[in-house]
Amino acid sequence: MSGDTRRPLIPIPSNQVDFLVATAARAPSVQNTQPWRFRAGRHWIELHVDPGRQLRVDPLGREVLISCGAALFGLRLGVRALGFMPVVDLLPDQSQPQLLARVSFGAAERLTAGERRLLDALPHRHTHRGPFSGAPLPPGLLAGLKRDAATEGATLALVSHARGYERLADLAAAAGREQDADPGAVADMQDWTRSPGSGARDGVPATAFPAGADVRRGRLGQRDFDLSRGLGTLDAAGPAPAATAVLLTPGDSRGDWLCAGQALHRLLARAASRWVFASLHTQPLEVTAIRRLIADQLGLAGAPQVILQLGPATTTRVTARRPPAELIDP
Ligand SMILES: Cc1cc2nc3c(=O)[nH]c(=O)nc-3n(C[C@H](O)[C@H](O)[C@H](O)COP(=O)(O)O)c2cc1C
Repeated sequence: MSGDTRRPLIPIPSNQVDFLVATAARAPSVQNTQPWRFRAGRHWIELHVDPGRQLRVDPLGREVLISCGAALFGLRLGVRALGFMPVVDLLPDQSQPQLLARVSFGAAERLTAGERRLLDALPHRHTHRGPFSGAPLPPGLLAGLKRDAATEGATLALVSHARGYERLADLAAAAGREQDADPGAVADMQDWTRSPGSGARDGVPATAFPAGADVRRGRLGQRDFDLSRGLGTLDAAGPAPAATAVLLTPGDSRGDWLCAGQALHRLLARAASRWVFASLHTQPLEVTAIRRLIADQLGLAGAPQVILQLGPATTTRVTARRPPAELIDP
């Protein structure tokens, strides 16, 4: 999904800009902050980070850039849907650090059946904090997800041994305890969770998290979205996920974070195309010392960016997004 840079410039149809931005904006983002802005020129669409939506627990901007990387993957897929290869200029201007990518149209090329399946999965892909079906993953899916990560320059490392899983679970629990006592983390949670019936089109809605602490066998400890407020309405009891994995990048630069986001969205879309969904866990990676321990104790070759638990599920619960008109700068 990338193209040649030496080519005549192709104008972006102005009546497709909303489609492209809406497709990008279906991406997952930390706490559903949707930390992105778009600018449309005649021959390109720019993706900018919105620093006003960066979490306190993310001072370096790692998670905000992973989120924007995920949106970039959606934008690329949108360009493919229109029958062109996307040409991506990543971090094109050092004097504009908020400008993350400039995307233009490359060679005309028909959407493949595989890309069509990813695109069709975007509307029902969601972060799954509810029960899984208890079934194993469809044959061949894990290999496909690993290929997706590799295609984007990342690695999906499976945590398949009980000992590795236990270490990860212990470290995730330790991070949870630390964050629960951190006023910044609590304030983030209050800012970015929504009460039942809220009409907000960002933040994590009450239907997407359970009330009370979320401690379940076979599942890594989850962020406490509820904070004892009794807001969450998700019934989360049920079977555990089928697999646990860590998404890694070779380095830990802004480019690596954008790479992680693109890999994440690509593999989540493939999983969703088979009705497999993931819970995402980045809370343990927000504590520097614990992030280092996770890499060391699991023997991970690379920088851990996102921890995932995946499994088949029969229900979907998509969360709202802001419409393109609120995302496009003049
Ligand atoms: C970088 C990043 C970090 C995330 N971390 C967590 C997390 O620690 N816990 C969690 O439940 N969801 C996490 N998520 C999932 C988001 O909460 C979710 O994408 C967002 O609420 C939008 O919902 P959706 O994925 O269902 O569309 C993360 C997503 C991203 C992109």
